[in-house]
Amino acid sequence: MEANMPFAKITGSGGYLPPRVVTNNDLAAELATRGVETSDEWIIERTGIRQRYIADADTRTSALATRAAQMAMDDAGISAGDVDLIILATSTPDFIFPSTACIVQANLGIRQGAAFDVQAVCSGFVYALTTADAFIKAGHAKTALVIGAEVFSNILDWNDRKTCVLFGDGAGAIVLQASDAPGIVGAELHADGSQAGILNASGNVCGGKVVGDPFLRMDGQAVFKMAVNALSKSAQDVCAKSGVQLSDIDWMVPHQANIRIINFLGKKLGIAPEKVVVTVDQHANTSAASVPLALNTARRDGRIKSGDLVLMQGVGGGFTWGSVLARM
Ligand SMILES: CC(C)(COP(=O)(O)OP(=O)(O)OC[C@H]1O[C@@H](n2cnc3c(N)ncnc32)[C@H](O)[C@@H]1OP(=O)(O)O)[C@@H](O)C(=O)NCCC(=O)NCCS
Repeated sequence: MEANMPFAKITGSGGYLPPRVVTNNDLAAELATRGVETSDEWIIERTGIRQRYIADADTRTSALATRAAQMAMDDAGISAGDVDLIILATSTPDFIFPSTACIVQANLGIRQGAAFDVQAVCSGFVYALTTADAFIKAGHAKTALVIGAEVFSNILDWNDRKTCVLFGDGAGAIVLQASDAPGIVGAELHADGSQAGILNASGNVCGGKVVGDPFLRMDGQAVFKMAVNALSKSAQDVCAKSGVQLSDIDWMVPHQANIRIINFLGKKLGIAPEKVVVTVDQHANTSAASVPLALNTARRDGRIKSGDLVLMQGVGGGFTWGSVLARM
């Protein structure tokens, strides 16, 4: 019998954004036609966001995810026959069922292994990555596709300026493979369901109709406070658990929700701004896709190199949060 390899390593990454760029000025002009007032200045000052990518009405999450996943497979040099696990994080699945992971599996011509979705909103990718790491370390899989993909524009209320300016669509993916060398060196996940009310889309489908509110709602200030506290503690905990110092981290890839949260976090942890990957200005908040999109951006532009220690962090609805430390 073949011995299990003890580690799981990221061997490829990909990202895909829909072609339509919507700048803050574009959005402000569109919202003005509805009588909703906002401005480029307000959005940049409060969030750091300059633009977002918005999918066409007929583009589903699986379409974005398939493009990102194919790019990650090409990067890792693997083919459809190698993948024996797909975990896809999304809160905007194509359907109630089947899972979006199953649709992506079919799109990619993958005929073996397991495929399922995880739902942890903006923490979805770190939840999915931690799950895939555990599958591989337990010997249940050798080559996993871990994907974060969203068409969040479908659940935004374009009359609510407190939320609709913050989000965008996109997909990011990595290939995680069994390896003799680390790899994912540490992970930790949290949830506090008692805080579900501060960020949710509480509608449901019942009797063939949408019941309740289908749009994302948020108490921005409560989320802001919770996010900085949860993520700074989580970063310290994952480092302590993994036997590394915060100063050992080469790159921090935090969830891309708001530049003020990212800056506050970096400062609190003593991580220099040059070590923090920021894409929120270009992508806005793409929920489960934000961390893999940012990771892919910094790998492809040459910042994140083989051997670097990377801290990835997610935070979002649930309330959920968590961290993964990866040796690239
Ligand atoms: C949403 C967020 C940017 C709002 O910033 P804020 O500084 O807390 O702003 P407030 O909600 O207090 O609103 C301040 C004012 O700006 C107004 N405002 C809100 N959105 C606006 C917009 N898009 N354009 C212009 N004005 C806006 C408000 O109506 C309010 O006006 P008022 O004082 O006359 O009532 C901020 O709370 C935040 O980033 N929170 C975290 C959100 C997040 O990251 N969520 C995802 C986590 S996964």
